[in-house]
Amino acid sequence: MIHRFDFLVLGSGIAGLSYALKVALNGTVAIITKKEKAESNTNYAQGGVAAVMSSMDSYDMHIDDTLSTGAGLCHRDSVETMVKEGPARLRELMDLGVAFTRKQGELDLGREGGHSVNRIVHAKDLTGREIERALLARIAEHPNIQVFENHVAIDLITEHHVVGERVIDRTNIHCWGAYVLDEIRNRVDKFIARVVLVATGGLGHAYLHTTNPLIATGDGVAMSYRAGATIANMEFIQFHPTTLYDSGSPSFLISEAVRGFGAVLKTVDGEEFMQRYDKRESLAPRDIVARAIDTELKKRGDDCVLLDLLHLSAVSVKEHFPHIYNTALTKFKLDITKEPIPVVPAAHYSCGGVVTDIDGRSSIHGLYACGEVSMTGVHGANRLASNSLLEALVFSDRAAKHSAAFFGKHSNERIPEIKDWDESGTFNSEEWVLISHNRKEIQQIMWDYVGIVRSDLRLERAYRRMVLIQNEVETFYKKTKVTEGLIELRNLALCATLIIRCAMKRKESRGLHFTTDYLERDNAHFLSDTLVD
Ligand code: FAD
Ligand code: SIN
Repeated sequence: MIHRFDFLVLGSGIAGLSYALKVALNGTVAIITKKEKAESNTNYAQGGVAAVMSSMDSYDMHIDDTLSTGAGLCHRDSVETMVKEGPARLRELMDLGVAFTRKQGELDLGREGGHSVNRIVHAKDLTGREIERALLARIAEHPNIQVFENHVAIDLITEHHVVGERVIDRTNIHCWGAYVLDEIRNRVDKFIARVVLVATGGLGHAYLHTTNPLIATGDGVAMSYRAGATIANMEFIQFHPTTLYDSGSPSFLISEAVRGFGAVLKTVDGEEFMQRYDKRESLAPRDIVARAIDTELKKRGDDCVLLDLLHLSAVSVKEHFPHIYNTALTKFKLDITKEPIPVVPAAHYSCGGVVTDIDGRSSIHGLYACGEVSMTGVHGANRLASNSLLEALVFSDRAAKHSAAFFGKHSNERIPEIKDWDESGTFNSEEWVLISHNRKEIQQIMWDYVGIVRSDLRLERAYRRMVLIQNEVETFYKKTKVTEGLIELRNLALCATLIIRCAMKRKESRGLHFTTDYLERDNAHFLSDTLVD
């Protein structure tokens, strides 16, 4: 079946929904989403959105904190744009109905690692759920927007898919839509549109332990790469220092805001250790804290460290962190006001992705990227806490404005005839064990060899194995009818390979990329993004 819209949005997290609401003023919009519409990383965001909302704060301070956490690789122009446009975007969210937590009428600003002042706007410890709720409510009311749940985008439609012979110039590619698996009807549809936004979020499930929900399998990066878009900085995978130990998959996050509230990291013997690693102690940026925990665990042979809140008022902890308190108590039988929380790091966020300019434009005509899938330059080698939701808000707004203009200019041009999805020569495989086995293999390799601490030897070993897996998966993909599991596996294998390739290129330690073979930063050779195309 063929669906025609003016704008096609892949993903229903904060980036996709914010963009859709804005471009819907200019034309019809389809939002494609893998599962139920709220299921996204956004929906699980706890800490909040960083923005300059108080007189104690300033743009310069937020810019400096972002640049310093980004370890020399942030693009200053993107950071300035994000920081300066952030407050207006937050006010827009409030106008749309997002209820942030207030104290005596004023926004209650929390603190997280790497921030020099309190600047985290939040809705208790369920900020993402509140944002997602309000945006979806506005989307539901909009006559120009249609949401397609349980639809999985497989590949972007470009010159490669045009009927008839065509010479493909890789420097001049256009995107006109996507092939999408309708999971309910079990068929692949064509969604044709003048403008396409990739807003498919992160890729946490390339790793064995991650805070990300199951949707985060790097589909947008993989689709864009296959279509010919430039990808960058995939080596910078952020590990969140504090997830509840042994809490299953995905790992349950204990927000950094808990440390911002005064919780302290200790070894299992109760010894504070962060002072040995950074003067900001438990509130140092995430790369430093995650690496410190990893070092302590390896040195001592322990399974976890402890996050101690026992010196804090139990009433305040329950009031500020009701979701964390209740989940720990009911699901994990742990009263965090009475016992310290056993924690370990887990893969959390991808700083790299589809390279965009300051208006969300990728290197492909008509293809925009926003949110975690994109590489706008604001995070550099390490993302400052709570800058992710902010980045998605600011750049989805800019992308919406630019897309509307692009649409105005090109809406009368003819979109070429696109081939139907071709599944000839494929069959329904019974071999699902291959998919689950390959997926686990990728996750284990990435966790063991491409994690918080890397080395040449580990990366080379990971690369050799990943190339084999990727070839195996591609062969299997070519002869098998597509399913969600297979689409995700193919994308995870590709993203894992891209992460390793980028990591192998960076022969220094910087931000989230730490290797025992090159312990120092090397500005002479590596003060630049790692591009793959
Ligand atoms: P997402 O919100 O992940 O949305 C992606 C969407 O794309 C989903 O709807 C998904 O179903 C869909 N999708 C994916 N692949 C496909 C496909 N092939 N076809 C169709 N649809 C697809 N950041 C902060 O700034 N502050 C925080 O407090 C914070 N807390 C966090 C807590 C947790 C537990 C996690 C996991 C992340 C947190 N982050 C936080 C990071 C932040 O939540 C994400 O980076 C951000 O929400 C990403 O938004 P997004 O719109 O880009 O993607
Ligand atoms: C958290 O609440 O610790 C997550 C914040 C973030 O990822 O920015």
